[in-house]
Amino acid sequence: MADTFYQTKISGTGHYLPPKLLTNKDLEKLVETTDEWITERTGIKERHIADESQASSDLAYEAAKIAIKEAGLTPEDIDCIIFPTVTPDHVMPSSACLLQEKLGAKNCMAFDLTAACSGFIYAMSIAHSFIQTGHYKHVLCIGSEVLSKFVDYTDRGVCILFGDGSAAAVLSRAEEGEESKIYSRHCYAEGAHGKLLYLPMGGSAIRPSHEAIEANQHTVEMNGREIFRNAVRTMGKAAQTTLETNGMTKEDVDWFIPHQANARIIEAVAKHIDFPMEKVIVELADIGNTSAATIPIAMDRAIRDGRIKRGQNILLAAFGGGLTSGGLLLKY
Ligand code: UT7
Repeated sequence: MADTFYQTKISGTGHYLPPKLLTNKDLEKLVETTDEWITERTGIKERHIADESQASSDLAYEAAKIAIKEAGLTPEDIDCIIFPTVTPDHVMPSSACLLQEKLGAKNCMAFDLTAACSGFIYAMSIAHSFIQTGHYKHVLCIGSEVLSKFVDYTDRGVCILFGDGSAAAVLSRAEEGEESKIYSRHCYAEGAHGKLLYLPMGGSAIRPSHEAIEANQHTVEMNGREIFRNAVRTMGKAAQTTLETNGMTKEDVDWFIPHQANARIIEAVAKHIDFPMEKVIVELADIGNTSAATIPIAMDRAIRDGRIKRGQNILLAAFGGGLTSGGLLLKY
């Protein structure tokens, strides 16, 4: 197996958004804000919100079923589930194991991955390594988030951004003669900036207590302005490095799918790498920021409506809490 070197293709994709909507008009009733302010500063109009009974693995189950079917596979064919999320069902067991059981994917390893909004690129990167080496043939990457359960709906700087959703891609070994591939991927971390986007409670640092909950330590804390600045810097660098590594320019790329956090961040990144907005996929207005799920949701939508076609070059770039960031270039 030592000399084996295979290429990776996306064999199937799928996404799921819970039906309930939270509009900017709804938010006007919760915090001091306006539809105009949110639309102008973020590009977001509404977000999908999970039912109280739904956890991340429930959303993931719906998206995964579609992606596996589109790949022409059954759950038993999946060798590995990589589940990037910052809103797992529990600390233990992993949401990946819960999803494995729901799907009946009996023949696989399964693990969660914590890289916040860069999680999907991290997951694809690891999946590619497993496939390249011949270790696995089919890896299910699934970003799924129920952020609405971790958002403080009195914090207007945070609650306007986030929504719930899930999306999956099955990465498979490309067969001889298939041109689909991953050209390269680049993942980064800058732990020094960890507190800029922070969910204090839920791990071993803070013992769950009434006091901790009263201090709101179970909800997302964010320095929006600093995250904005770092998002443009890190996502711009990741996209640029990915292009340069492959000796490619904007002319060689058919579509750019950045992490969908804020329309102004996306525009600033496109400007930073001198990339035309006509070739940037923006699926933000009716979804909001679904962290690890934004890139695969946008990708699945663009595949389904025919924008993304086989043989096209697609550039992905993300940044997220950690801080993490990453870029990946693929031929679909
Ligand atoms: O996946 C990563 C997740 N996080 C992000 O991507 C966040 C990145 N950051 C952002 O998207 C933006 O920083 C926000 C949308 C969060 C905020 O937009 P901004 O243009 O950076 O606003 P700001 O924080 O500089 O605040 C400007 C003003 C402030 O008022 P003062 O101090 O100038 O009087 C805020 O209090 O806007 C106020 N403000 C609001 N006003 C109405 C903040 N949030 C709101 C709001 N409605 N929802």
